Amino acid sequence: MKNIALFASGTGSNAQRIIEYFAGHPGVSCKILLSNKPQAPALAMAAERGLQTRVFNRREFYETDQIVRLLQELEIDLIVLAGFMWLVPPELIAAFPDRIINIHPALLPKYGGKGMYGMHVHRAVAEHGESESGITIHYVNEAYDEGAIIFQASCPVLPGDDPERIRQKVQALEHEHFAPQIEKLLAGWE
Ligand code: GRF
Repeated sequence: MKNIALFASGTGSNAQRIIEYFAGHPGVSCKILLSNKPQAPALAMAAERGLQTRVFNRREFYETDQIVRLLQELEIDLIVLAGFMWLVPPELIAAFPDRIINIHPALLPKYGGKGMYGMHVHRAVAEHGESESGITIHYVNEAYDEGAIIFQASCPVLPGDDPERIRQKVQALEHEHFAPQIEKLLAGWE
């Protein structure tokens, strides 16, 4: 069995898809959802589906080894960032080398980096008159959005598509591809 830990700061619609996709799966188990935001709807969503949850603050995350130890105790194989907004500390990356992935709502290397999240991304895509956007699933390293790319999928941006419309198209791609790509990645680790 391969164990997943999810990190989410917000709604958790991607985390929800992943949890539901792997419910009852013979080889993959979503063990825990962690969040830096006590009010994140993702926490209640995960608890309702039987996952352990854990809220942490800045000090715990960056100045103690509590989260690394918790993940090790749970024998986590893969950490999935699904709308998690904080930079991952080097100690966590070192403890899980090539075992942390993120989803970014654009076609990296375009529209990535600090400050490029949520609607900021989709507004920038619209303002630059791009003819396509999409999703990037990538490994996480010490810099925002710079780890090796695992998977990309694109969607057309049509004249007249506003940032909200682009967001909807990108989210549909996220919900379609993230869980199957995780399954594929973990299957390759057998
Ligand atoms: C997604 O767009 C994801 O790409 C980004 O944060 C958003 C999370 O949305 N990293 P949700 O909380 O899963 O609905």
